[in-house]
Amino acid sequence: MQDSLPIEFRRDYRPEIELIAALYDAAPLRRPTSDLPRLRQMYEAANVVLSAWQQGRLVGILRGWTDGAYHGYICDLAIAPDLQNAGIGRRLLAMALEMSPRIEWILRASVIAKDYYRHLGWEKIDNGWFVKRADAGRPAGAPAT
Ligand SMILES: CC(C)(COP(=O)(O)OP(=O)(O)OC[C@H]1O[C@@H](n2cnc3c(N)ncnc32)[C@H](O)[C@@H]1OP(=O)(O)O)[C@@H](O)C(=O)NCCC(=O)NCCS
Repeated sequence: MQDSLPIEFRRDYRPEIELIAALYDAAPLRRPTSDLPRLRQMYEAANVVLSAWQQGRLVGILRGWTDGAYHGYICDLAIAPDLQNAGIGRRLLAMALEMSPRIEWILRASVIAKDYYRHLGWEKIDNGWFVKRADAGRPAGAPAT
């Protein structure tokens, strides 16, 4: 059975951008997957990239940033649909938290995962603020003008 095969976790490797786009589309995680240069830039600038593999197949990924000393932000978390609820997301988040006890991590939950982080013991913040990106609302990957 697929879910009984071992999962390998990596913190030292950036998967090919096409594999990441396919995983986001399948999960699903709404990101600009039809704009691969933009997705590639998102990964090149991130300094936390944790991935899960099953027999050479990318089955989970976490992307984020940290200064390593105080703040951290989880940008994306996506798990292959056939392996969701198998503990992979929990493990990837734990790997981020293991980086340093000095870091306070924050994230924005997707609509379908809004109760997930509470379930894992994260605390909800009520003092968060954001400014929408200027191209919000257009289809992912659509040109700026
Ligand atoms: C949400 C997501 C990341 C969870 O990862 P996962 O590997 O499937 O979840 P885990 O196996 O780590 O789940 C751990 C626990 O959370 C629970 N859980 C999983 N998804 C949940 C959800 N959407 N809401 C509430 N609880 C959830 C599981 O039942 C499990 O509970 P248990 O430990 O009591 O058995 C994954 O389902 C996913 O990729 N979803 C689509 C993309 C997405 O929404 N990403 C989040 C962006 S913020």
